[in-house]
Amino acid sequence: MITTYKAAPDIDVLTSSFPVPGFGLIPINAFVLHATEPVLVDTGTVVESDEFMRALASVIDPSDLRWIWLTHTDFDHIGSLHRLLAENPRLRVITTFLGVGIMGLSAPLPMDRVLLVNPGQTITVGDRTLTALKPPAFDNPITTGLYDGRSGALFSADCFGALLADVPQRAEDLSADKLHQGQVFWATVDSPWLHKVDRGLFAQELDGLRALDPTLVLSSHLPAAQGSSLGRLLASLESVPAAPPFVGPDQAALEQMLSQMTGPGPDA
Ligand SMILES: [Fe+2]
Ligand SMILES: [Fe+2]
Repeated sequence: MITTYKAAPDIDVLTSSFPVPGFGLIPINAFVLHATEPVLVDTGTVVESDEFMRALASVIDPSDLRWIWLTHTDFDHIGSLHRLLAENPRLRVITTFLGVGIMGLSAPLPMDRVLLVNPGQTITVGDRTLTALKPPAFDNPITTGLYDGRSGALFSADCFGALLADVPQRAEDLSADKLHQGQVFWATVDSPWLHKVDRGLFAQELDGLRALDPTLVLSSHLPAAQGSSLGRLLASLESVPAAPPFVGPDQAALEQMLSQMTGPGPDA
């Protein structure tokens, strides 16, 4: 089920929670930034597209949108992308060269409706300037987050995600322990390469976000967090290289899980 809430007066969150059996819930967020040229950051999951379109219409007339900022092309971010483009001829997609390339393997983007923006570059969307950035953790080389100079909000794509038992609307409503554990576990799943990084260089990357000093930290996979929580969020990420690597259930574990869900078979 997709619900909406306000993370800031000019930012709506469209959120659902996806169960990961045996591990918890992963929030899946998209955002409407109510700039004078309104921006939709990501477009939900493929499986929930109908519901996404309904939720979106509850916070903005989709025909008023001017931009889709596509952080990356994973299936939890592109769900309603083509539908929105088909319904609103003025809508353009902000992505990267690689984003266009990967979309071309399944559902090509119309090139006259694409705007390529690389980390470090800015675009103006009416009343505000958005700066593209590469978050310190990501699962797809296309990943491009953004910083909104007017609201001070950081949109960090999959960075700072957390697997949780319950998903509140504010990251601050999670205990420090649950937030830390959920974040570290997610990062070992989503960015397994963090185990191989130079920790000093990684710390410098994290300092880059600290220097940005955002008022709000928005992740595709975490409830909205206040800027005052950034230190905690960064500390969790900094501990990931030393955390146990994630190994998914193998076939034997899957069969055990299934038998627990279905009970003993007829031979038992
Ligand atoms: Fe992703
Ligand atoms: Fe994601």
